[in-house]
Amino acid sequence: MTDLHTQVITAFTEQYGEPPAVVVRAPGRVNLIGEHTDYNDGFVMPLAIDRAFWLALRPRDDNHVSVRSLNVNETALFTLTGLHKGSESWGEYVKGVAWALQEAGHTLSGFEGVLISDVPMGAGLSSSAALELAIARAFAEVSKLDWNPAAMALLAQKAENEWVGMNCGIMDQMISAAGQAGHALFIDCRSLAHESVPLPRGTAVVILDTATRRGLVDSAYNERRTQCEAAAEFFGVSALRDVSVADLEARGSELETYDPLIYRRAKHIITENERVRQSKNGLRAGDARRVGQLMDASHVSLRDDFQVSSEALDTMVWLARQQDGCWGARMTGAGFGGCAVALVQADKAAKFADKVTRMYTKQMELEPAVYICEATDGAAVII
Ligand code: GLA
Repeated sequence: MTDLHTQVITAFTEQYGEPPAVVVRAPGRVNLIGEHTDYNDGFVMPLAIDRAFWLALRPRDDNHVSVRSLNVNETALFTLTGLHKGSESWGEYVKGVAWALQEAGHTLSGFEGVLISDVPMGAGLSSSAALELAIARAFAEVSKLDWNPAAMALLAQKAENEWVGMNCGIMDQMISAAGQAGHALFIDCRSLAHESVPLPRGTAVVILDTATRRGLVDSAYNERRTQCEAAAEFFGVSALRDVSVADLEARGSELETYDPLIYRRAKHIITENERVRQSKNGLRAGDARRVGQLMDASHVSLRDDFQVSSEALDTMVWLARQQDGCWGARMTGAGFGGCAVALVQADKAAKFADKVTRMYTKQMELEPAVYICEATDGAAVII
């Protein structure tokens, strides 16, 4: 049993005087490649990581919900009838998921329990999606709902979009719902068709947290979405997913003359979708070198054309690329701060982590967190 698994059972047992009836786990994620493509109906290839929310609970026979977070020692308490929005806090994610499930016509039962997480908040590893999926998994279990990962991911996204008010795409919820141990998940964000792709033997995925966070990420994110919509309109399609690299070559200079900034945004999305497809083939062929090259190209495109990187992210990626055994590195998640990700030879990963940590600390005067991560399963009932 992992530490958190033991801790959440112990805390539940202390609070309720008996062991939990159910324990659920829902992981955070790191995206290997395919950034800002999800809300363009495009392709992404994240993996679910070995950092997760754990929730130990027992059903109630009324419609009350009580969840105590061991991280902040606060309890979210509400009844399933007459949900009201409260002030911004983690409890709104719990309530938002209950709301979205009920909006979809599900009849929910109440439950009570304790929650713990080691997904860092605001680091770009999708702590919100992991929390949403843990709650959805718990409701599905106590209310005897079928667990369809894609359908549940959509409802968790609805909670985040419409209850919490963050206009995210579907990637984070899909991977937290449907991840598979040892694999990345290639997701078509239009159809939600997904396939697990094994990580090449002898490679490690390393997460490099820059220890920087940027508050204005929401407004920049929404601005990028609007710019992508403008580009889709220029090409006469419903989403940039429908524009091929050949279409971009044919009409790119026309768009560039019309609006140079929109052109750069579109160029990133269109080429990134192609990189995700090629990366899937690269992983399938066990070709870590090729996948690494595509990750490097993704970073350059995010930095120069989509313009969502930062000095800290660029420094981290640059330092990672200097190390022996690194196949490729890029920023991951929405950007402006948070984490980078690197694909590294497994036998060199520990030395890589150590060297990048030392060099980054020296150069940026910030203490990064570097984790060699394992790809894990998506949201599941553990007992
Ligand atoms: C955030 C959003 C995702 C996705 C990424 C960028 O993580 O929640 O939906 O858009 O940014 O790829």
